[in-house]
Amino acid sequence: MKKLESRQDIENLVNSFYSKVVKDEVIGFFFNDIAKVDWDKHLPKMYSFWESILFGQMSYKGNPMAVHFPINEIQAMEQKHFDRWLELWKTSIEENFVGENADMAIYKSENIARLMAYKMDLARRL
Ligand code: HEM
Repeated sequence: MKKLESRQDIENLVNSFYSKVVKDEVIGFFFNDIAKVDWDKHLPKMYSFWESILFGQMSYKGNPMAVHFPINEIQAMEQKHFDRWLELWKTSIEENFVGENADMAIYKSENIARLMAYKMDLARRL
């Protein structure tokens, strides 16, 4: 087990997470069928997103909440979907990494997911 400490580590982690996501029965369809994600574009954004959060690199420029609203309009993003997202993220981390940054990656994802779930739910009530 190693520490999560380089851009390469983040790339490995994110790749391992999405290899689970695309096969997943609970959330895979959001990526495969609804957003029809262009992985060559999406993956580098996710590497930069996590690099910015964990290492303060500020390499990610974007609005992570905004991209989820149109998806939420097509298919409600519900608590069960966030729970599954978090479970896959946590598993991907715990299978490969230990230490402070690994813990932080879990902690931050839980906070962002909580906020996102709240915002998606609110948007559906408007
Ligand atoms: C039910 C849970 C979630 C689903 C189904 C989901 C789905 C998606 C999809 C389909 C995209 C790609 C949009 C596209 O490129 O066309 C995306 C982008 C993204 N997601 Fe999520 N997401 C979820 C939760 C989260 C959480 C919890 C985070 C953060 C911890 C997150 C962070 C991001 C970021 C940073 C992007 C890229 C935004 C950009 O293009 O700048 N997502 N998500």
